[in-house]
Amino acid sequence: MFGRRTAPVDAQASPAAAPPKKPVAAPKPAPKKEAKAPKKPEPKPAPKQKSKAPAPAPPRVASPSSSDGPAPQPVEIGGRSDEYFQTKTTIFNALIDTIDLSQLAQLDTESAAEEIRDIVNEIISIKNVQMSIAEQEALLQDICNDVLGYGPLEPLLARDDIADIMVNGSSRVFIEVGGKIQLTNVRFRDNAQLMNICQRIVSQVGRRVDEASPICDARLPDGSRVNVIAPPLAIDGAALTIRKFKKDKLTMADLQNFGSISPEGAKVLEIIGACRINTLISGGTGSGKTTLLNCMTGFIEHDERVITCEDAAELQLQQPHVVRLETRPPNLEGQGEVTMRDLVKNCLRMRPERIIVGEVRGPEAFDLLQAMNTGHDGSMGTLHANSPREALQRVESMITMGGYNLPSRTIREMIVGSIDVIIQAARLRDGSRRITHVTEVLGTEGDTIITQDLFVYDMDGEDENGGIVGRHKSTGIARPAFWDRARYYGQDAALATALDAAAD
Ligand SMILES: Nc1ncnc2c1ncn2[C@@H]1O[C@H](COP(=O)(O)OP(=O)(O)OP(=O)(O)O)[C@@H](O)[C@H]1O
Ligand SMILES: [Mg+2]
Repeated sequence: MFGRRTAPVDAQASPAAAPPKKPVAAPKPAPKKEAKAPKKPEPKPAPKQKSKAPAPAPPRVASPSSSDGPAPQPVEIGGRSDEYFQTKTTIFNALIDTIDLSQLAQLDTESAAEEIRDIVNEIISIKNVQMSIAEQEALLQDICNDVLGYGPLEPLLARDDIADIMVNGSSRVFIEVGGKIQLTNVRFRDNAQLMNICQRIVSQVGRRVDEASPICDARLPDGSRVNVIAPPLAIDGAALTIRKFKKDKLTMADLQNFGSISPEGAKVLEIIGACRINTLISGGTGSGKTTLLNCMTGFIEHDERVITCEDAAELQLQQPHVVRLETRPPNLEGQGEVTMRDLVKNCLRMRPERIIVGEVRGPEAFDLLQAMNTGHDGSMGTLHANSPREALQRVESMITMGGYNLPSRTIREMIVGSIDVIIQAARLRDGSRRITHVTEVLGTEGDTIITQDLFVYDMDGEDENGGIVGRHKSTGIARPAFWDRARYYGQDAALATALDAAAD
């Protein structure tokens, strides 16, 4: 047990009646728990009716403020009632008033958790709180999470089937499971507790988030990508977004099982990856771009020197000769920033054979294109765009906005000379992810870039559960522009077979 309180610390602490008085201080974050086995999303649904709809519709979001129909019920996580939350707050406040968190912070997580358990049990018996053993166990776990870990986020972080966690202020927590966004019953005691947990997360990467610097990117110890935007910029309390790091990355075989790509389409992608064809992966947010890029890197030969540049290291290349680089945000004084452009430029001096850019979002587009047409064949990158054509426009505008004073015709010629293939990923309105286009960039005609689709996803309609039904088919192009390249790598026969098999 601990001595008297020396200083009030945790912003989540609020005074309350309590047993023997003891002190408090900033808690230490706890290591993450083991994630549960991944759930296999999206079984392929059975077809119902045929109605052609090539362009993917925006995903439907289950929002409580949605005007069409009644508000959806929050998903129960851990089955906690309002009454439970009240009891927990009372006991938590009593605990904070009782223990010396500064001393607690000196202990390792296990001893600290034990200490908390002892005190909480004592408080429960002093306050004569009526609860079952199971409830008491849940309460102990929750309180340990609050003091030592990421509080109410813990049960969500432990699940591997959750792709994203989105916290909009203290009482609205959404998750994305199987491509669908759901409101949960998870909530924070108040905005102060939420800010405290945000602070705890970002402090692990040496950053701060507060009124003075309210925007912050960070990473959890398991690699999950985190963004925090705090008040006053976020009006209703801090907004915290976590892209969960999937321990078992999806493979091309998984993508086939989910129906995201057909076996023939996957073969064409394999050939594109293996024949060192410059590729851009385009798609909306959360459409599976990084996952697809990761799969595509699986086809790189093991003797190639590959350099990856990312904002937050998400790719998991299996090759032995890989150099992984990560950008760095500026420090609190606004210094020391290393941008994606700096990394890509530096890469060129590192004798890379291929450069992989996690996400192209600015002037580095120019350097990536330069790399692509200066002997670094097979370079790849992702970018946000809703169609292959839009992806080309995005590249052009990124270069223009980067301050390069080049006529647009020159930029287009450069794009055509660099990018060979655009793969379009999409999250469809039923939550499933599909590769909707494999498109070649052929050349220019006047001022226009000419493209040709090799593979498209053709939507047929919906099944009885609202699942999208469709199929991937080749557009009948028998000799893609990279045919000679495929022949050079001895892949022409396989390419012809895959394209033939997928034709109508
Ligand atoms: N084909 C797929 N089938 C099912 N789930 C998928 C598929 N592709 C990706 N996912 C899942 O979707 C989530 C988002 O994937 P990913 O990070 O690749 O998207 P992204 O387009 O790179 O997102 P962002 O725009 O935020 O960078 C991940 O949890 C991933 O496991
Ligand atoms: Mg991504």
